[in-house]
Amino acid sequence: MASETPSVESTLKQAAAYFRDKFGKDPNLAACAPGRVNLIGEHTDYNEGFVFPMALPMVTVVVGSKNDAGKCRVLTKAEGVDAPHFIEFPPHSEATPLSPGTPKWANYFKGVIANFPGTVPAFDAVIVSTVPVGGGVSSSAALEVATFTFLQQLCPDDGQNVKTMQKVLACQKAEHDFANVPCGIMDQYISTMGKASHALLIDCRSFEGRLVPMTDPDVVVLVTNSNVKHELNGSEYPTRRRQCESASKTMGKKSLREAADLTPDQLADFKDHIDSETFRRIRHVITEIQRTEEAAGVLENGDYKKFGQLMVASHNSLRDDYEVSCSEVDQLVEAAMEVEGVFGSRMTGGGFGGCTVTLLKREAVDKCIQNMKNRYTGTATFYVCPASDGARSLQL
Ligand code: GLA
Repeated sequence: MASETPSVESTLKQAAAYFRDKFGKDPNLAACAPGRVNLIGEHTDYNEGFVFPMALPMVTVVVGSKNDAGKCRVLTKAEGVDAPHFIEFPPHSEATPLSPGTPKWANYFKGVIANFPGTVPAFDAVIVSTVPVGGGVSSSAALEVATFTFLQQLCPDDGQNVKTMQKVLACQKAEHDFANVPCGIMDQYISTMGKASHALLIDCRSFEGRLVPMTDPDVVVLVTNSNVKHELNGSEYPTRRRQCESASKTMGKKSLREAADLTPDQLADFKDHIDSETFRRIRHVITEIQRTEEAAGVLENGDYKKFGQLMVASHNSLRDDYEVSCSEVDQLVEAAMEVEGVFGSRMTGGGFGGCTVTLLKREAVDKCIQNMKNRYTGTATFYVCPASDGARSLQL
């Protein structure tokens, strides 16, 4: 059976109760931001390409209020994060600038404060999350964007004038500078701008988004967490990014997006100028950008069969050319594809473990989960996910 995602309301209630417990008063501000699943368009965002994610019903909630203690005090109740779970630090200022350190979870939080366009006063806060940590569904972006949205309530004068894209970029910068991950724009963008019942085609060159309805009651998105996390991704992600950037330079292009209209024959011309590994990397990015743009149109027309084929082609390309999948995730994709009523399945997110995303008929969900369970050598967790809303303030 699929796991039930607790409602935002119940997560909020829980967060408020933890806050009362810890600080002996009620919080008066609250915000949340969701995790995401990417339907197609992987490792294309930092190449200025297209991505096609949707926001998940799993969210990170931040509740809190200003204090007179002269310091910021933050407690996390998120599962699977490193200790200590309670931190204290002076408000960010020129005299006491925030810097990254341990615990790691706090870097996302502090990074957002450091990049908030305004003066953040001393406050108390509690974090609660239903986004699985380290599962490739952007628990980090959910924390960043929830924190930023919370700060917008805490500092309304500065917060209300922030443009949406400025918010997305500030959260991305927090991840670059404080978590040392040179991520693209997808996760913070969708966590900020997701819309219920829609997937969002994001052009990572112009930052324009196009909402595509996902309202067919007979078709669902199944997210499957392999519950494996290979430590590789610490260095592999920046390496892939560097390979892409140096290849686009060699090709005389600003980014690989500029090469996305190359036909397979034109692309093959570059074979002699680039080593074979880099060639496979750019072949993935270029074909993935093409697939993603096509996929949005195909979904708009309700052609799930074709959409599913594009998902599988994406997975194969990530596995063989970009080499960011792993045997556990491959097993889950293969098992899903054996079931009647499954349109497509693929790895989602950065790779090296984490989740798969499967598009399938609602009536096939139980069979699909059963087959994945039977075939998978590990223990997976399953979530049937309606496309959900992006970040928002919450009423206590
Ligand atoms: C991670 C990054 C994103 C994106 C994906 C791969 O989730 O945070 O920016 O690059 O990997 O598509």
